[in-house]
Amino acid sequence: MITLVEFFCGMGGVSEAIRQFNSAHPLRRICVERAIEIDRDCGAVYQHNFGAVDCRSIDSMDLSEVATTRSEQAWWLSPPCQPYCRRGRGAPGQDRRCDAIRAITHYLSHGDRVPSVVLLENVPEFATSEDAADLVSTLHRRGYATWSGNLCPTQFGIPNLRRRHYLIARRGTAEISPPMPPPMPPPVPSTWLFTIASILDANSEFAAELLVKTSTVDAYRGAMDLIDPHDELARAACFGSGYGKSLIRSGSYVQQGGRVRHFSPVEVARLLGFSSRYVFPDRIPMRRRWKMLGNSVSVPVVKTVLEAAFDVAAPRHCTR
Ligand SMILES: C[S@@+](CC[C@H](N)C(=O)[O-])C[C@H]1O[C@@H](n2cnc3c(N)ncnc32)[C@H](O)[C@@H]1O
Repeated sequence: MITLVEFFCGMGGVSEAIRQFNSAHPLRRICVERAIEIDRDCGAVYQHNFGAVDCRSIDSMDLSEVATTRSEQAWWLSPPCQPYCRRGRGAPGQDRRCDAIRAITHYLSHGDRVPSVVLLENVPEFATSEDAADLVSTLHRRGYATWSGNLCPTQFGIPNLRRRHYLIARRGTAEISPPMPPPMPPPVPSTWLFTIASILDANSEFAAELLVKTSTVDAYRGAMDLIDPHDELARAACFGSGYGKSLIRSGSYVQQGGRVRHFSPVEVARLLGFSSRYVFPDRIPMRRRWKMLGNSVSVPVVKTVLEAAFDVAAPRHCTR
């Protein structure tokens, strides 16, 4: 049994990928032994779906408490990406939001007990940051082999842009096979495993809270990513944490029945690969749901990264 500590667990995209990994590979199960998250709403959503969360700041933790001597303990790190991305401030040097990943790197550098596997997901810009350089050089010095690279759900036949940087580090010298998108069945119609239309809810079409005002669409039409659900080749833009707040470059919109609407949170969750078992507690408002989803992960991509990290062959066909 592999045990995993999910740092920065947010709404639990990695736990969702682990749930799907475990059903695909029942003989090589991963057990999340601890999930850590500072935000109480995220913690409540995580707990609603997966169980207890340690709701506190990673930078104030004693990480030797987290590390065990088990032979197969993994740490998953999804630190905040805003300090590294162009739309955030993009100047991580003094940004306090980087303190937690720096504390983890410091522990990995000096700690007596370190995990056998370290995994990380972030925006592609993270790869060229000093924080990435410090983490990777620390891992090499402590005897980890590493693989890193960018992956996008579109490579997996999923009609959604979300290019992210992934790092796999495993203690020992064995080479890490890069995560490979699973071989796909003959796609229908020609590019994607499923169409945008197939993830839309019929009752979202006229939901008042999803509609964008016609005057707003008229003013911003050229800059908005509008999707015609009849277009079988359509793909959605990357949904960011500002979806529902900022109109441009935060995600796509559905053009339906002469109106333009947002994708509902459930529709975004489907695009990200969450199964129908995943649910938000009723009290979480729509804006918060979009924000959490914008900070989350593409579940099938994370599942493939886990398969590469733990040397498990991917199933022959990618399924939803
Ligand atoms: C990029 S998101 C990760 C999202 C997660 N992978 C998911 O699927 O939802 C980063 C998360 O780290 C949390 N966070 C930021 N700083 C933290 C800290 N110092 N300690 C614990 N959690 C923190 C944020 O609240 C946010 O939910």
